[in-house]
Amino acid sequence: MKEQILSYISQDNPWRDRLQWFDTITSTNDVLKQMAQQGAPHGTVLVADRQTGGRGRRGRTFLSPAGVGIYMSVLLRPNCRPEKLMHLTCAVAEAMCNAVENAAGFRPGIKWTNDLVYSRRKLSGILTELGFDSSGNVAYAIIGIGINCCQQHQDFAHEIRDIAGSLAMVSGHEISRPRVAAAMVDAIENMSRNLLSGQAELLNQYRADCITIGQEISVVRGDSVKRGKALDVDEQGALIVRYHSGETEAVNSGEVSIRGMYGYV
Ligand code: BTN
Repeated sequence: MKEQILSYISQDNPWRDRLQWFDTITSTNDVLKQMAQQGAPHGTVLVADRQTGGRGRRGRTFLSPAGVGIYMSVLLRPNCRPEKLMHLTCAVAEAMCNAVENAAGFRPGIKWTNDLVYSRRKLSGILTELGFDSSGNVAYAIIGIGINCCQQHQDFAHEIRDIAGSLAMVSGHEISRPRVAAAMVDAIENMSRNLLSGQAELLNQYRADCITIGQEISVVRGDSVKRGKALDVDEQGALIVRYHSGETEAVNSGEVSIRGMYGYV
C-alpha cells in the first residue's frame, strides 16, 4: 500500500520519504504525538488501514474499520504563536476539498468548521491538536483526518447510517484509496507552505465552500442552546452568528448544528 501511495504523490513533494504506513494502529494522532515529542520532523505522515482507538472531537470515538477509509495524521512545525493559527482548521478543510476534487472528481462542501459534507452526509472528520514549547509557541500541530472512501450505505454502523456518506457513494464509481491518500498529502503540503502568508485568499475560498453560511443553526454549549442564522466566517475562521434575540457573536467554540442536517430539525 505504501508503494502505491508513493506512486501517486508528486515527485517534488518533500514529504515523500517521511510517510509511514500501518496495517493497524491505535490512533494515528496518538502515535504521531509521541513521535512529535521525540523530535519527528515537519511533514511526518502516518497513514493507517485501520485504527483500534480512533478519536474524534469532543472525546468521541471515531470508528475506523479496515479496507474502506483512510486514517491519516500529519505533523506540522509552524514555529509561530498560536494566535497565528486560528484559521488552521479552515485551511485543512480547504486542502481536503482540493484533495477530494483531485482524487474523486467532485468538490464537497464544508460544514463549519471542518466536516466535509455532500448532500447532507458527512464524508470526513478532522481533529487538529497543538503542542506548545515552554514559551508558549506552537511546537507542533497534528492534523488528523479520517475519510470515508469505499463504503456503501449498509457498510456504516446503524447509528451513523443516515448521516454518513463516502466518496464512492457520491461519485458513483470505485475509489482508489492510495490515490486519495496521495492527494491528501500533496494538498496538505501545499497548504502548509501558504499557511502563514495566504490567509485572506484562503478564507475567501473557504467561504465559497462553507455550506453553513446563510443557514439556520443552533449553537450548543453545555446545557445552553441558542438559535440563529450563520452570516459569515471572519478573518480568524470564526462563524458570525446573528441569534434570534438580535445579538451577534463570532463563534469559535461550541457545537454548531445546521437545521436539517445530522438529525437536527
Ligand atoms: C471528528 O469528526 O470528530 C474528527 C475525526 C478525526 C478522525 C481522525 S482519523 C485519523 C486521526 N486519528 C484519530 O484518532 N483521529 C483522527
